[in-house]
Amino acid sequence: TLEENFHNEMNTDFVLESNIHRLRGETLKTVNELLESSHPSPIPLIINGQEIHSKQTASGISPDTGKEFYDYSLADAAAIEKTLRCAQNQTKLIVFDDWPKRADKLLKVAEIMRHKRFHLCALLMADVGKSSLEADGEVSEAIDFCEYYARSMAQWQHLPNLKMQALGSVLICSPWNFPLAIPTGGIAAALIMGNACVFKPAPEAVLVGYELLNIFHQAGFDPCDLQFVSCEDEPQGSSLIKDSRIDAVVLTGATETAQYFMKMRPGLHLMAETGGKNTMIISELSDRDLAIKDLVDSAFAYSGQKCSACSLAFIHQSLYQDPKFLETLKDAAQSRTVGQVSDQRSFITPLIQPAQGKLLHAIESLEKAETWLLKPVLHEDSAHLVSPGIKLGVTPESVTYRTELFGPVLGLVVYEDLEEAIELINAGDYGLTGGIHSLDEREQQLFLEKVEVGNTYICRGITGAMVERQAFGGYKNSSFGRGFKAGGPNYLLQFCQIHEQLEHE
Ligand code: ALA
Repeated sequence: TLEENFHNEMNTDFVLESNIHRLRGETLKTVNELLESSHPSPIPLIINGQEIHSKQTASGISPDTGKEFYDYSLADAAAIEKTLRCAQNQTKLIVFDDWPKRADKLLKVAEIMRHKRFHLCALLMADVGKSSLEADGEVSEAIDFCEYYARSMAQWQHLPNLKMQALGSVLICSPWNFPLAIPTGGIAAALIMGNACVFKPAPEAVLVGYELLNIFHQAGFDPCDLQFVSCEDEPQGSSLIKDSRIDAVVLTGATETAQYFMKMRPGLHLMAETGGKNTMIISELSDRDLAIKDLVDSAFAYSGQKCSACSLAFIHQSLYQDPKFLETLKDAAQSRTVGQVSDQRSFITPLIQPAQGKLLHAIESLEKAETWLLKPVLHEDSAHLVSPGIKLGVTPESVTYRTELFGPVLGLVVYEDLEEAIELINAGDYGLTGGIHSLDEREQQLFLEKVEVGNTYICRGITGAMVERQAFGGYKNSSFGRGFKAGGPNYLLQFCQIHEQLEHE
């Protein structure tokens, strides 16, 4: 109930044999059903509460097989207009009217997700190639967003002279790398504050998006309050962004996409979490084994495709020059199993987009001063499957240093002086996540004081932010808008207009 304090949802304990069996059973069932059904009916649009099957469709591709395995409807201009007309009709509710009812529905969403945990894992694995552990963690995060935002409301309701009014209609543009947790967070925040939503899932993850939509409807949210639209970026997607009947946009995606949105519609109320070039510092005063484990997890889990993933490690020169340290790091990375999602042992799973462009360049070429500590290998049959790569001698001038690669390539940078290392990190364009492995409190303090990133971590991996404990969001090119962090106490404030009613008025 709402009166209980928030606590983070526990992940499944896969040490227990029974859980392994349950997941395997459910996963194989769901995945096989999906892969084997040769003519599944296309996923519809949901506009103004109605299912719409459009003539134009697109297909979801299985990361494991590279084959199409479901179809979904794409909105044409008329469908977009219908969506916008429905969006326009939303009353801009006073946020505190009836909020406990909406909060109860969010708790219901969380409850349904708990019941469907293994099924949701299976969908995440099939649709976007997550390993079972990654999928399971994502389900927990989605539950946390609902539980946390439902409770966050109470903090403002007794503030005097404060009138909070919903914005109206919020467009949620979600990414394929967290296709369950991230849109759940955006939708939950928008709805609890009395807004309506238009949900546009990532084209790579429409299957997960559709299940999410159904869960919100099952929990009692009105189908008209949550529309579901897939479309081509041009011209339909852009027409949604440009239209003033959409009052705000929540985006998680590329920095260029956020910049493009702002160019199309200057003054747009955009809340965006974008790219990152995230770093971990490993000091000579660290617990080396723990640091290596956390580095390998942060760089290579979900094949390096998280916006929070570590792609540069600053290694103190005393470690960098120690062959034993480098050998252990190499062994640790090599020990992670590379394989298909359907194989539960896989840690590095197929990439959503095949290795190409900047990633392929970083895999295939070395620049000045660079050598491989561990050379990544493209799987013979599939450019989607790439084993982990670690580059030595990466410098600020190189592509590996400067570019967000979104794949399993980690660059090592050697440093002597911690302050200089932090200055180098701050000189970058992004500022999403960053961490230090050091047992020395002065070093930890220096890092926390100086580093310009949104999420800072001490002696821990730099991915997997926990709702409430590590509210998530960045600085600089990693964030657009007011910058209140997801899963933190003030996130919801962006979803309303605040009118302060002063005594003398
Ligand atoms: N919130 C996700 C993480 O911290 C992106 O890894």
